[in-house]
Amino acid sequence: MKKPLECIQIGVGGWGEHWCTEVLPRLGALGLAKTVAAVDINPDVLPRAKDTLGLSDNQLHTSAEEALSKHKADFITIVVPPSQHERMVDLALEHGCHILSEKPIAESMEACCRIHRKVLNAGLKMAVTMSHRFDQDKQSLEAAIKSGDYGRLNYLVHRFTHNCREYGSWGKFRHEIPDALLVEGTVHHFDIHRALSGSNAMSVYAVTWNPPWGEFRGDSTALITIGMENGTRCLYEGAKANASTLNGWENDYIRAECEHGTLELDRRMLRVLRGGPWEEPVSHALPLLERPSWMNPWLAEMFCEWLLGGPEPPNSLEDNIQCCALLFAAIRSAHTGEVVNVQRFLAEH
Ligand SMILES: NC(=O)c1ccc[n+]([C@@H]2O[C@H](COP(=O)([O-])OP(=O)(O)OC[C@H]3O[C@@H](n4cnc5c(N)ncnc54)[C@H](O)[C@@H]3O)[C@@H](O)[C@H]2O)c1
Repeated sequence: MKKPLECIQIGVGGWGEHWCTEVLPRLGALGLAKTVAAVDINPDVLPRAKDTLGLSDNQLHTSAEEALSKHKADFITIVVPPSQHERMVDLALEHGCHILSEKPIAESMEACCRIHRKVLNAGLKMAVTMSHRFDQDKQSLEAAIKSGDYGRLNYLVHRFTHNCREYGSWGKFRHEIPDALLVEGTVHHFDIHRALSGSNAMSVYAVTWNPPWGEFRGDSTALITIGMENGTRCLYEGAKANASTLNGWENDYIRAECEHGTLELDRRMLRVLRGGPWEEPVSHALPLLERPSWMNPWLAEMFCEWLLGGPEPPNSLEDNIQCCALLFAAIRSAHTGEVVNVQRFLAEH
């Protein structure tokens, strides 16, 4: 059995808590990685890493610089707000560490591309935890589309709607940053569209805004159309300031219109509908796939296996740069009112 990898967790705040309770302990139990230090600029949240990861006081730090200089690690995990990601990547590269980072790669296309170049030049490995594409319901829908049982995929319709209109109900920083819905929410959905269609994006047109009752500085609501390179079309509705959480996190509505069947995923129920011109469609439930883990625990496991000589995971930096290109092209579209050619946008950067 190989020696477990050593890792430093950076950020044990909101989502970092999930890493401390669900992701890192599982890597330990699998013998893949052990956490040698945890960092957060807020000392009040650090004890959480002590309890769940069995760390002692000298393994807890309020500065990432200090943690990386005091502890040797194979990789770091980045679970701090996107504006801090590039700084953490730079530190990791200085110390020769691989990187498993929360999405998006960074807060701008320029920063994403700088990170892409720096990681490539350093010969180190980086992957991005696009949790929701790797959830059980999305993976089951993807498998159904790709089974070929329903013929060719024509188009996708996706609804993600929440009542997080009150300040702080979606984590304070998201109510303060520009383009909050797209940067912190839709980036996951764009990656799902890429996976379901089996294609990168060609063009995007986004209209985004914030209704008067949404306590957001940036835009919280969007209607977006995307043309994929392989001809699949996607229609997306995302909203964070609605009057109800109709299709929130892990409970999205996605309809995949295929040549011989309408595949519908609604709040984790998957079914196929078929019918003639005037009849009510007949529907059949489809079972969801099963495996030991989904989302971040699964992604972290694949990342460690990659570092240990296994295959490159599907959420590698190389793959994810296309997701960020679609994200920031959509933001450009929202700001200019123009349709943006995603591949040209990426090439420009
Ligand atoms: N994959 C998912 O489903 C998912 C879910 C939630 C959040 N996220 C991502 O996780 C990241 C963090 O989001 P969050 O919800 O935990 O935010 P948060 O604001 O709740 O917590 C961030 C933590 O980072 C700490 N921090 C900030 N700057 C730091 C620095 N320079 N050094 C060390 N610590 C620092 C803060 O003190 C805080 O405890 C973001 O990139 C976000 O997009 C992903």
